[in-house]
Amino acid sequence: MSGVNEIRSTFLDYFRKNGHEVVASSPLVPRNDPTLMFTNAGMVQFKNVFTGLETRPFSRATTAQKVVRAGGKHNDLDNVGYTARHLTFFEMLGNFSFGDYFKERAIELAWNLITKDFGLPKDKLLVTVYHTDDEAADHWKKIAGFSDDRIIRIPTSDNFWAMGDTGPCGPCSEIFIDRGEHIWGGPPGSPEEDGDRFLEFWNLVFMQFDQTEPGVQVPLPRPSIDTGMGLERMASILQGVETVFETDLFRHLIDATASVLGKAPVPDTLASYRVIADHLRSSCFLIADGVLPSNEGRGYVLRRIMRRAMRHMQLLGASEPLMHRLVPALLREMGQAYPELTRGEALITETLKLEETRFRKTLARGLGLLSDATATMDEGDRLDGETAFKLYDTFGFPLDLTQDALRQRGISVDTDGFNVAMERQKAEARANWAGSGEAATEAVWFAVRDKVGATEFLGYDTEQAEGVVTALVKDGAQVEEAREGDTVALVVNQTPFYGESGGQVGDTGTMTGEGFKVEITDTQKKGDGVFVHSGKVVSGALKVGAAVEMKVDHERRTRIRANHSATHLVHEALREVLGTHVAQKGSLVAPDRLRFDFSHPKPISSGELERIEEFANEIIVQNEPVTTRLMAVDDAIAEGAMALFGEKYGDEVRVVRMGTARHGDKAGKAYSVELCGGTHVGATGDIGLVRLVAENAVAAGVRRIEALTGDAARRHLDEQDRRLKAAATALKVSPADVVSRVEALLDERKKLERELADARKKLALGGGAGTSGGGGEGETIAGVGFLGRVVSGVSPKDLKPLADEGKKSLGSGVVVFVGTSEDGKASVVVGVTDDLTVRFSAVDLVRQASAAIGGQGGGGRPDMAQAGGPDGAKAQAAVDAVKAALAA
Ligand code: ALA
Repeated sequence: MSGVNEIRSTFLDYFRKNGHEVVASSPLVPRNDPTLMFTNAGMVQFKNVFTGLETRPFSRATTAQKVVRAGGKHNDLDNVGYTARHLTFFEMLGNFSFGDYFKERAIELAWNLITKDFGLPKDKLLVTVYHTDDEAADHWKKIAGFSDDRIIRIPTSDNFWAMGDTGPCGPCSEIFIDRGEHIWGGPPGSPEEDGDRFLEFWNLVFMQFDQTEPGVQVPLPRPSIDTGMGLERMASILQGVETVFETDLFRHLIDATASVLGKAPVPDTLASYRVIADHLRSSCFLIADGVLPSNEGRGYVLRRIMRRAMRHMQLLGASEPLMHRLVPALLREMGQAYPELTRGEALITETLKLEETRFRKTLARGLGLLSDATATMDEGDRLDGETAFKLYDTFGFPLDLTQDALRQRGISVDTDGFNVAMERQKAEARANWAGSGEAATEAVWFAVRDKVGATEFLGYDTEQAEGVVTALVKDGAQVEEAREGDTVALVVNQTPFYGESGGQVGDTGTMTGEGFKVEITDTQKKGDGVFVHSGKVVSGALKVGAAVEMKVDHERRTRIRANHSATHLVHEALREVLGTHVAQKGSLVAPDRLRFDFSHPKPISSGELERIEEFANEIIVQNEPVTTRLMAVDDAIAEGAMALFGEKYGDEVRVVRMGTARHGDKAGKAYSVELCGGTHVGATGDIGLVRLVAENAVAAGVRRIEALTGDAARRHLDEQDRRLKAAATALKVSPADVVSRVEALLDERKKLERELADARKKLALGGGAGTSGGGGEGETIAGVGFLGRVVSGVSPKDLKPLADEGKKSLGSGVVVFVGTSEDGKASVVVGVTDDLTVRFSAVDLVRQASAAIGGQGGGGRPDMAQAGGPDGAKAQAAVDAVKAALAA
């Protein structure tokens, strides 16, 4: 008997040996297709290879592809648990030929694998072909030796496979096994075909057309092959069990469920165990691929799947959240083949736990309401839409959960009534919103939001995606078309572009489509979740409904990521060095730098700055993965996540963690833990380096730090280094000796200045070179000792000591020193010895001197006063003016 893991590898090995490239499964959220909710077949990742848009270095491939069929064209959600073969998540094994082999070889390869390698009994096998496909029927006859009754011609779309409303498609041939009369059911095409006796397990699609729009089929450049085998179905056949739920993998998951519940399944409860096992797989794989529960789009499908499983848990008697405790069992079964599950374990566990905790709060009351409302109903009755809507709105019951809960009693739900109630609530919300202040300016975005819903953000996982333009806005009004040269705002159903928020600037990049190109210069979030891409149509024209290929400017986004992650590290380092009073007051995360404003009462010393930088860089060097989890706000804050005061958060928040603390109380624990919706590096090492380049005040009690990361930080350091080297060259020392050399030079300069001042003083008093106005020891004017000098190169502040010296050398008398400076101005000091201050005031005398040099008077005390004037050329006249005053 073959286990699921063994069957998968047998299949891939078989095709590898037959010249096929083994390609990894693509993610469940299609990167290259706006029309699909989830990857619903193995061919999705090769869509553009079939149509000829893309080429690969191989023309044959084989994959084991993760597939979710819930929501969208292929939706099996409602059947799961109640049939032998339906699953929301399954693995599709496929082989592909891109214009290489076609029908004959595809049938031959399939036949040999199932009859030789898998050893299926030939007489139990039969196939379908599209009713007009004689070619395929002939090949089956020849290769398998089938008679006509084993080749059933089907005229319906069941045998014409299409990925979605558009995309590659073609007639197909399905392989069935008859599992015996003991199981109810008839062959394909018969009235009993829905039974489980004849099980379809492999679909060979002969890709021949590209459906460009519904109803229009263009032949593909080269006919190709796409096949899909349900791994779980093949396992049920090879293991001789009737349902996929009895295969080894599902048995282990059901055993794990029984063990956490403490009870084994019985016939009445079996369906619940099956639902839980299937939904556990789809939930975990979706979360691992970046989908998180929400009330819109993919997130809502995930929420519906999770809540459906959780209701069954509750039906089975769970008294606390249990889904998350099944994650280890799933990892044991599938973790090796799909390492993303192991990588996402923490996020998966937290997300399941949070959703179940929240849902359980209202589940019991909702079920109570439901059983009251249906107490008197019988099989065939219908629950009114109002009640179903109340269950949805107040108790978080998705419509299909309510339907599922009533299914066993044969009660249906008035879905039209449900939709009417939903519409009414939206209209009320719109009316309330229209009354708020933002209404006038943003009305257009609210209208867009109302029409097209919130934009799904894909940018945590990818920088490129396809989408469909859902709205165009020009000059504040919605338009149907934008043309070359127009400045336009675009809304797309999903986008990898980050809309400015939380300090992180919006993304830029390009959007291209058939015959047009738009340069996106900014992205903003408006009207409750609409991402608005602003840009210019650089060529062609586009209409609402156009498919676009979106590409975020990768290089710019990479720098933004590094700066955002560095902001978190700097924030934590500030708290570590300065104290926990540091709280974020604002931030800017741009491609070229980051800026962080925070509360702190005084300037940060250079020693503190060095430690902040060092601590942040320590975490960068750790190079640990940055992890993101979704949590309830209260739990996140209780766990110490830093939240912005006054910031509005939803019920659930992303919590971003970085690094391991090396110091203080937190040593060994997560270093930075913040609530944040921004985009971050994969591992801290991607930041490269952080360098603080400025620190200053922005308001009372608020400081601002600016920093650079990565290449910008390195260039900044290079520049500093170049300057240091230039200084070293000028100083003729090695860079290491620059500081001591500069210090020595400064000391020497001080000493020289002192010596020079002394020399000048001596010269001034002695009347040598550099002075004018007579020499000698002074003179006597009207019986008063007098010393007057014009000195150059003596600073105004040195004039007073000169005057003091002069007074001392006279003993009794009046001194005047006029200093001239290089810029042609003059300053003057007059000193009067104490014995003469009764006769002369230095203040009066200095005013007369100052008048001579064009000054406005001066000031001081009777024994010493100072003034200045613009006219240095008249310095001697100032001396003379004092002389004259003494003589008068
Ligand atoms: N793409 C085909 C299918 O999903 C093989 O059935």
